[in-house]
Amino acid sequence: MKNVMLIGASRGIGLEFVRQYRADGVAVTATARSEEGRARIEALGARALTVDVATAAGAAALAWPIDGEAFDTLIFNAGVYGPRTSGLATPTEAEFNAVMHTNVLGAMRVLPQLAAHLAPGAKLAVISSRMGSIGLRGSADGWLYRASKAALNSVLKDVSIAFAGQATCISFHPGWVRTDMGGAGADLDVATSVAGMRRTLAALKPADNGGFFNFDGQPLAW
Ligand SMILES: NC(=O)c1ccc[n+]([C@@H]2O[C@H](COP(=O)([O-])OP(=O)(O)OC[C@H]3O[C@@H](n4cnc5c(N)ncnc54)[C@H](OP(=O)(O)O)[C@@H]3O)[C@@H](O)[C@H]2O)c1
Repeated sequence: MKNVMLIGASRGIGLEFVRQYRADGVAVTATARSEEGRARIEALGARALTVDVATAAGAAALAWPIDGEAFDTLIFNAGVYGPRTSGLATPTEAEFNAVMHTNVLGAMRVLPQLAAHLAPGAKLAVISSRMGSIGLRGSADGWLYRASKAALNSVLKDVSIAFAGQATCISFHPGWVRTDMGGAGADLDVATSVAGMRRTLAALKPADNGGFFNFDGQPLAW
């Protein structure tokens, strides 16, 4: 029986991971910040925990409920976009902190905690973005979000080195997906994005550790 852990699964891509893994009969533990988010997770037959990665106490709340448990697949999905800027509009300190504390510091709080919860042959993914790629950069729109996902990719690379031999760790671009963040005009429905990422995760080999992948398994430049 597989055992999946999802961080940030109240809606959008995270909740769709819960839905699809549960539809396959997989045991899922998933986190949300709100009562409504937890209810949506529980309605899919998953265990819901309350975790807010943007605060130290909120991220530490993950520890005791999963004490002694091991997961085959672990996904850090929590993320915010922040200001929808074009060009070089300097963010306020509050905007900078909100985005960086969730997308980067949140991952740096949660991922080290997961070291003790890796089942043999575990796979770990962060949901990053192609917008964080420096090699593929063709626009400066949303530069705070881009900087946060570039930093998240750096964090994932370090995690892949620290967890080498224990887990295969990758960064994902989920595609441009129709969610609250992606908007109604995005390319992909959430089911297609998540089905692609699940297929890619299932096919990962140890040599893929530390890689950056599109939802459909194509490697991406950092
Ligand atoms: N949609 C796209 O086109 C797209 C493209 C590239 C990358 N991504 C990435 O994919 C991931 C999921 O995005 P989405 O499209 O599903 O966005 P979404 O619908 O806005 O959902 C974001 C999720 O992150 C959670 N979250 C936000 N701040 C959190 C915090 N401090 N602690 C814990 N959870 C937190 C939200 O929980 P609440 O309900 O509590 O706010 C929600 O479950 C994000 O990392 C995003 O950057 C999305």
